[in-house]
Amino acid sequence: MADRIIPPGSTIGILGGGQLGRMTAMAAERLGYKALSYSPEADAIAGQVAPHMQGAYDDKAALARFANQVDVITYEFENVPEATVAACEKHKPVRPGVRPIHFAQHRLREKAFFRQAGLATATYQAIRSLADVAGATAFPGILKTCTEGYDGKGQARVANKEQLAEAWDKLGRPESILEALVDFRCEVSAIVARSLTGEARCFPIGLNDHRDGILRTTTVPSGMPPAILAEAERLGVQLANSLELVGLVALEMFVTRDGRVLANEMAPRPHNSGHWTIDACATSQFEQLVRAICGLPLGAVDVLAPSRMENLIGDEADDWLRYVSDPTARLHLYGKARARPGRKMGHVTHVFTSDLLTRGGLPPGSASRT
Ligand SMILES: Nc1ncnc2c1ncn2[C@@H]1O[C@H](COP(=O)(O)OP(=O)(O)O)[C@@H](O)[C@H]1O
Ligand SMILES: [Mg+2]
Repeated sequence: MADRIIPPGSTIGILGGGQLGRMTAMAAERLGYKALSYSPEADAIAGQVAPHMQGAYDDKAALARFANQVDVITYEFENVPEATVAACEKHKPVRPGVRPIHFAQHRLREKAFFRQAGLATATYQAIRSLADVAGATAFPGILKTCTEGYDGKGQARVANKEQLAEAWDKLGRPESILEALVDFRCEVSAIVARSLTGEARCFPIGLNDHRDGILRTTTVPSGMPPAILAEAERLGVQLANSLELVGLVALEMFVTRDGRVLANEMAPRPHNSGHWTIDACATSQFEQLVRAICGLPLGAVDVLAPSRMENLIGDEADDWLRYVSDPTARLHLYGKARARPGRKMGHVTHVFTSDLLTRGGLPPGSASRT
């Protein structure tokens, strides 16, 4: 085991240059690692905090140069082409590797994998042809493109075959999935790290509130009954084990009104619903990823304080002065130059500590008062 440890001082390569890569680089550097991100953009925001290399995902020569400068490689989004990961694997370990993105990139493959791994899902059917549309029965449902959808994009709610036909046409008739609409009580997510030795550790389950398909808030503790929390955690760990993952995976789930927990989608990377861990957990999800891929022991996942993470979307980030003036708020801005509607510009974690700490400051006589 010890010989497989990638020690501090080594360099972590990150495919992707967005906020997840940026926060992974920040966690890596805190532990004494260096980070190098790789993506096609010239102005990648990960490049504001650590070196960034600009290159196309299909540029094998550039990927080889990138891989040769790092000791281990991870990715910050699941739509990195499989061939990019395979090209990197020729030079350095990529954790987690090709397998998790193979499933996470394609909603039909993903749902089939969940079922095969023993995770229940909503009823679903493949939509690949007009015959599939004519034979569809999962109504009311949500039509989703198999690839490239995120934050509710590439989705349409449909009540019947006519609406399905129209919605599928509008999307351009791509390979799609029709999922029966789940009348859920709430949405939760499990973020699970799995180490080189196969140890899996789940962060406390977060309660997620989505609006218009975009995550708005995550609250921990979630207030869910212990049996539901245990089931959500069990599904997350089972998923990580089934993927034989080394790294981090997030599993989004529906809690139904009759108390069942259904797998919705996974992301084999740090996840927006885990941002609260930076300010309110013993180990952040980003540090946990670094630990897992470098062969270090996984960090403790104790909740340090109740918290609620709020995304700052579009021009909401203009309110930064309000957040920096609020003693319960920890503001994170991602350094994006332009706010567009629906674009995640930052987040704020409200950490609810005791009155003494938020209002009274340190008690008299404290050593740090000079
Ligand atoms: N089958 C479903 N039943 C009810 N709500 C759903 C269903 N699928 C998706 N949603 C809602 O839409 C949101 C986004 O869908 P999701 O499949 O997670 O795609 P995305 O990749 O856009 O996050 C979910 O968090 C949930 O609120
Ligand atoms: Mg989702």
